[in-house]
Amino acid sequence: MAVSKEQVEEALRGVLEPEIRKPLVELGLVGEPINAWGSKVVVPIGVIADPLPYEDALKSAVLPALVQANLANKVDVELRGLSEQEIKRLRNLIQPPTDAEARSIANPIGHEQGRPNQFMEAGSKTRVLGISSGKGGVGKSSTTVNLAIALAKKGYEVGILDADVYGFSVPKMLGISRNPLLIDDLMLPPVAYGVRCISVGFFVSDETPVIWRGPMLHKALEQFLVDVYWGDLDFLLLDMPPGTGDVALSMGQYLPKSEILVVTTPQPAAQRVAQRSAYAAKQLKLPLRGVIENMSWFVGDDGKKYLLFGEGGGKVLADDLGVPLLAQIPLTPDIRVGGDDGVPITAAEPDSDIAKAYDALASAVEALGPARVYRSELKVKG
Ligand SMILES: Nc1ncnc2c1ncn2[C@@H]1O[C@H](COP(=O)(O)OP(=O)(O)OP(=O)(O)O)[C@@H](O)[C@H]1O
Ligand SMILES: [Mg+2]
Repeated sequence: MAVSKEQVEEALRGVLEPEIRKPLVELGLVGEPINAWGSKVVVPIGVIADPLPYEDALKSAVLPALVQANLANKVDVELRGLSEQEIKRLRNLIQPPTDAEARSIANPIGHEQGRPNQFMEAGSKTRVLGISSGKGGVGKSSTTVNLAIALAKKGYEVGILDADVYGFSVPKMLGISRNPLLIDDLMLPPVAYGVRCISVGFFVSDETPVIWRGPMLHKALEQFLVDVYWGDLDFLLLDMPPGTGDVALSMGQYLPKSEILVVTTPQPAAQRVAQRSAYAAKQLKLPLRGVIENMSWFVGDDGKKYLLFGEGGGKVLADDLGVPLLAQIPLTPDIRVGGDDGVPITAAEPDSDIAKAYDALASAVEALGPARVYRSELKVKG
């Protein structure tokens, strides 16, 4: 008997488009099945780019679901590039234009006016976590990436905005080596390990040093928030550049609900610099939620803990600032290797002690709950 579209849709009901992260069926991307000779059925799936850079991820989600449903002796999928019109329909489906936006599309001058910043909306469920530190090299990016994956493993929708305009490193750490795709005028963040990612690194070449400051930086960050399809995020993590300054300033404005987490190493000097960034967060009235101590100790082959960078810095800083010490992450060469290979430790070795330390950090962040005090003066005007 011929296999119907309804049967195929039933079989694919729970299957997500890997980067839009919504069910293919809901997105209207499942086509009429082609019933071929010898009980073979071919299912056309609409794709936003042809070739699709994440074709393997899509096929390996769709095929097992079709096989499982036992519809025919043989099943196959055929990817079909969407037409421009179909792309527009999809764009409006995933992010319906606001009235103001519809007006500015009709009148392309001033096109960007009226584009909503979902993170500023009163009902936004997204917790925005700014990962900061007073100085470079303490492990902000490693923390951002591994915390993001740990949260995704708990079932949350997670995005990373790599806001380190001077030393973006998140795409490399996540093994992402291509630019975002577009759905009409929306950027679609590439996904790795269940985490969406947008980085300054996608928009500049490695050879060009980024000298964005002040207004340009401000504008770029705004675009990363409003021109990107982030979906329904539970957490948006920002990998911030070292020190304080422009990015924090922009965050205060575009992401008024940001919560700041400070990364420090155990030695007293590091703790003093971390303190500076913590005070800056306070000046911006962004709530400081906790301290993460990185490179806390090293476990040798002899099983002993070695305190390479001293001890207690994280706790002292947390006490000083009146916030909890959320985690102590041991020093391990695997973090560096994972970062270089694009397979973070939380994904490569989920059962290792270090991955468990990040899982515990994710649980601590979860347990904190969203910050309750928001800046009333930054409410979106109706
Ligand atoms: N717990 C750890 N154990 C071992 N190596 C680590 C650990 N944390 C970070 N590293 C390594 O230390 C280096 C700096 O870490 P990372 O890039 O995360 O820091 P950062 O604060 O983001 O630095 P930058 O200021 O340059 O952006 C990297 O090579 C990273 O792999
Ligand atoms: Mg970094």
